Parts: sequence; structure tokens; C-alpha cells
Amino acid sequence: MIPKREIRRTGLPLSVLGLGAASVGNLYRPVSDGEARATLAAALDAGLTYVDTAPRYGHGLSERRVGDAVRERDDVVLSSKVGRLLTPDVRLKGDAERHGFRSPLPFEQVYDYSHDGVMRSYEDSLQRLGLARIDILYVHDIGPMTHGDDDARTFGQLTTGGGFRALERLRDSGAINAFGLGVNEWRVCLRAMEHVDLDVVLLAGRYTLLEQTALETFLPAALARQVSVVIGGAYNSGILATGVKGEGPHYYDYGEAPPEIVARVRRLETLCARHGVPLPAAALQFCLAHPAVVSVIPGLGSVARVHQTLDFHAAAIPADFWRELRTENLVDPQAVLPGEDL
Ligand SMILES: NC(=O)c1ccc[n+]([C@@H]2O[C@H](COP(=O)([O-])OP(=O)(O)OC[C@H]3O[C@@H](n4cnc5c(N)ncnc54)[C@H](OP(=O)(O)O)[C@@H]3O)[C@@H](O)[C@H]2O)c1
Repeated sequence: MIPKREIRRTGLPLSVLGLGAASVGNLYRPVSDGEARATLAAALDAGLTYVDTAPRYGHGLSERRVGDAVRERDDVVLSSKVGRLLTPDVRLKGDAERHGFRSPLPFEQVYDYSHDGVMRSYEDSLQRLGLARIDILYVHDIGPMTHGDDDARTFGQLTTGGGFRALERLRDSGAINAFGLGVNEWRVCLRAMEHVDLDVVLLAGRYTLLEQTALETFLPAALARQVSVVIGGAYNSGILATGVKGEGPHYYDYGEAPPEIVARVRRLETLCARHGVPLPAAALQFCLAHPAVVSVIPGLGSVARVHQTLDFHAAAIPADFWRELRTENLVDPQAVLPGEDL
């Protein structure tokens, strides 16, 4: 069975291996209803009982599919996100890629992090999910990486505009168990922590086998403030799962990998091969070694991926592999490796 770790401030237990449901929202490629249903059932039955979705994932498609999969179960912890409202648009037809997703749902996304925007997003999500409860809400993609010049205004919607207040009310009333940010950048998490008590941060791509930029400042701050961390994008959107032996394209942070990243992954692959370690197994287990981390949630879009992922999580990785990872300067010297304490 997959072990669980608690969100420190609230005691909510998450399976250490969870399911990122962007894939079942048709990230990059269409997934049929049947395949999505089978993938979610296989993951839940195997103990991946923490599931993360969002309005953005397939413009509502992921939430619809996830809601149907979890409705009859009482062992699931579910997170969704606020900050994007979905508005219908009759001109949208077909499943050509929009914002990375191949979804046929005719909705456009509009940012709104204000008090009323957060409440409407939460209520809309309940309706799409067909559920009476969401356990965790993340503020989705706040920060300059997404908002550029509009960063100050959108962040202000959370502070002076009451977005954080809405989340605090939902938590205080017991409607949700926990809230935090779901982001690809860590500085904005430090900023948010100056304004509000976050329970949990979903950080994507910034603490992985390839990149540990969150290590020096954000992760110690999270530990000090009892903020738990969920790792998304543990494969940096693909390259740490596929490796670089094949022809490519090799996906890194949702685009084609630059040559220096391909070269680094090649060095990681060489070390893995020397020790008989699958690269994705090292990628998953690396993230879970940091004491702030409670769960890692790879994006899984097929039953085969679920089974592979279970094997990667269970794979025995020799201590020598982790030692050489450090001596060959393939990770930050301060990174916590499996079997070590901070
Ligand atoms: N801002 C945020 O809050 C945020 C941002 C990013 C991610 N997240 C969360 O984190 C989850 C995971 O992130 P992600 O899906 O973007 O990235 P990821 O987990 O780093 O990578 C997913 C990609 O890896 C591939 N993959 C997975 N297992 C594989 C395997 N065994 N062999 C080969 N390829 C494999 C998948 O390809 P296939 O499609 O071929 O299976 C998929 O394209 C998301 O679903 C979401 O829940 C949140």
C-alpha cells in the first residue's frame, strides 16, 4: 500500500504518491472517457488516493472525470484550484489544442483572484465535480511567471481584494480542510506567506532531480512555517520520465528541452544505467526525501502509466547511486537524499 503523510497544520493525510489529473484533462493529447475512467480507477485502487485537478485542466474536463471517479469513494483526498473562471464561448468547437489541452469543452478561462472570484470558482468546481466537498484549494498560477506585468494587480486581488480572506473563511467554516498555492515558481510562495497562513503549497518543477532552486530559501521557510509541500511536475513535464535516449521531442517545462538540459539528463541517465536504476524511479524518490514534502503527483494518463509509476515508486535504489549523484555534482550539495536526515 502507498504510505501517507499528513499536511502538518491540519492533519489531513495524503498518499505520498498521488495522481496529477492534468493528463486526464487531455494535456497535449486526447484521452478517451474510457481510458480516463480506467486510469483513475487503477490509480485509486492501487492507493494513489490523493488526486489533484483544476478548472484549467481541459477547461473543466479533468474535474468532470475526476468527480465521476471519486464520488462513491470515501478514501480520496481531492484538491482543485481557484483563480480561473470558465466562461462559455459558442465559437469554440472541436478539440484543437488550446492552452496546452486537447479538450472539446467550449469554455475560455478568465483570471479572477478576488474574493468573489475565488468563491465563484470554488462553487463552479463543486458543480463540475458533482461533489459536495473539496478538501484542498490551491490558488492557481499566481505570480509573475504567469501574469508578467499584471502580477501586482492579480496578487492584490488576493490581499486587498479579499481572495485570501475567502479561502480563510472556507477553511475556518470547515468547508475545506486546507489551502495554499499551486504554482511553478517559489518566490511568490514566500510573498504569500507574508500575508496569510498557508497549509500546503503545490510546487511544480522547482524541486526535481534536474532542478533544486527551491532548496535554499523556500523549502526551509516552508519547514519553519509548517507549510507542507506537494511536488508537481516531478518529471519536469516529461524529460525525467522519458530520458533522452529516444528521438524526442524531449519535453522540459512544457516546451522542447534546451541542449543544456538534454546534456544534464544524459549524465543522469548514464549514472542510472551504471546502477540499474530507472530514471523516473530516481526522479520520484528524490522529491520525497525532503522533509517538507508530503506527496509527489506525476501526471498519469493511462493504466500502463499507473502501473509503471507504482514500480518506480517501489524500486530499490542503492545508496551508492545517491552518493554518486552528489559526488558527480548532479544535484545541489545541500539536497536531502533518500536515507538522509536534513
Ligand atoms: N501550477 C500548478 O499548480 C501545477 C503546475 C504543473 C503541474 N501541476 C500538477 O502536477 C501534476 C503533474 O505535472 P505534469 O503532468 O505537468 O508533469 P510531469 O508529471 O512532470 O510529467 C507528465 C508527463 O510525463 C509523462 N510520463 C509520465 N509517466 C511516464 C512514464 N512512465 N514514461 C514516460 N512518460 C511518462 C507523461 O506522458 P504521457 O502523456 O505520455 O503519459 C506526461 O506528459 C499535474 O497533473 C498537476 O496536477 C500543478
